Amino acid sequence: AQQASRVSVSIDTAHPGPVIDPAVQGQFAENLGRGLYDGIWVGHHSNIPNRNGFRTDVLEALKQIHVPVVRWPGGCFADTYDWRDGIGPLSERPVGINTNWGGVNDDNSFGTNEFMNYSEALGADAYVSGNMGSLPPYTMRKWAEYITDGGDGAMARLRRANGRDKPWTNLKYWGFGNESWGCGGHMTAEYSTDLHNRYATFVNPAPGAPDFVKVAAGPHDDLYDWTEKLMQKSKDRLGAISLHYYVFPYGWDHKGPALGFDEDAWAITLEKARHIEELIAKHSAIMDKYDPEKKVGLYVDEWGTWYDPEPSSNPGFLYQQNSLRDAEVAALTLNIFHRHSDRVKLAAIAQMVNVLQAMILTKGDKMVRTPTYWVFDMYKVFQGATPYPVAIQTPDYRYGDHDVPMVDVSAAKAKDGKLYLALVNSDPHKAAHVVTGMTGSASGQILTGPAMDTHNSFDAPDTIHPVAFSGTKDGGKLAFDLPAQSVAVVEVRQR
Ligand code: AHR
Repeated sequence: AQQASRVSVSIDTAHPGPVIDPAVQGQFAENLGRGLYDGIWVGHHSNIPNRNGFRTDVLEALKQIHVPVVRWPGGCFADTYDWRDGIGPLSERPVGINTNWGGVNDDNSFGTNEFMNYSEALGADAYVSGNMGSLPPYTMRKWAEYITDGGDGAMARLRRANGRDKPWTNLKYWGFGNESWGCGGHMTAEYSTDLHNRYATFVNPAPGAPDFVKVAAGPHDDLYDWTEKLMQKSKDRLGAISLHYYVFPYGWDHKGPALGFDEDAWAITLEKARHIEELIAKHSAIMDKYDPEKKVGLYVDEWGTWYDPEPSSNPGFLYQQNSLRDAEVAALTLNIFHRHSDRVKLAAIAQMVNVLQAMILTKGDKMVRTPTYWVFDMYKVFQGATPYPVAIQTPDYRYGDHDVPMVDVSAAKAKDGKLYLALVNSDPHKAAHVVTGMTGSASGQILTGPAMDTHNSFDAPDTIHPVAFSGTKDGGKLAFDLPAQSVAVVEVRQR
């Protein structure tokens, strides 16, 4: 074994940052592949144990990680979706074609009531992505009424006829289109901005219902001009701008496999994951010019790894395995969100179940929790926590042309008043000896594995999961011996 690298960390508890919105641990659940159908919805008559058609194993596993918000129904699917197809008796719902994802038929059995009931069952807020690409604002307005009207309007009556008396009260976010620069309509920034203003004028919660945050279809990656246009022309008609950023290790045309990859793929993936920090900083700087009080949120409502589809799966279903590398990406990204808690008020990893960087994979009645799931489980203490600035002296982890800081640390005081640290070692070979300036002790959990692609499979669902981890001492100071390729979250008890 190589000698451990020395890392020093200093936590500035005198300068707390803005609270980490719990919603940065949000989930994205598109009508895509087996994300909804099979993944969370099996229907009332399935042999798979379910509660009102929702598979019980997945529901319970998701409850454990305290999902704060779920975004639905897309994604690209959102701008093809007519909500009226997904309400009423199942036998009367029309069969649609999911033209974005695999060209498969969609019986519309998972619609608005199912989504709202599911998010409610999870204890999560709902984030509905409205169709701005191919339906008029009137239709979108009626959808919002269907969900929120507690009065006696036609949409409230329709909802009651469909079995739901009271309006749902957990509708907290409303998206206006998705990726308008691409699958959402291939618009210019100017046109999309005008369209946002038009739709946002007419789509509101019913009178008396809780307000929702209006989210504009925003940029991807470094499309800074899009942010500039939205802030210039729509600032007063939106509560947030979305940002999408995916990590494709070798680009769109050759993404690379989810498992069985080499060290170059490990290093480039982590380097690209870290790149989101620069993107957030630059989009935020543009927003600061127009909104110095930081009222408008930057919602990273699609992020995560995107690899080649799993061999023998439908390529339109975006089904991929998930390994220790994805756990590193998740932890590094969540740490970045903590550092930008002034602007990043919501994020949604793509996607919750069976699609891209999923929490959970299912096959028939089997389910596995992925390494990414375990990161979200360990990180739930950071929901609503107050972050502290961290100064870190760390060597870099280098491979070929790729270069990232070896260790990353996030620190925050949780809602329960306890101090937590999240520590990530990105070097797949070397341990890190991390020395803090604090005295006291620490204990928590660590996620690591023998191989870069250590993962859980349906045959071996428990290969990788968090195990107990404690701090040590160095010259009277609290320290950590962080193994290679690991993610840890610990509670610190200062003295
Ligand atoms: O998450 C998969 C797709 O990626 C979404 O539908 C789209 O918004 C993005 O391009």
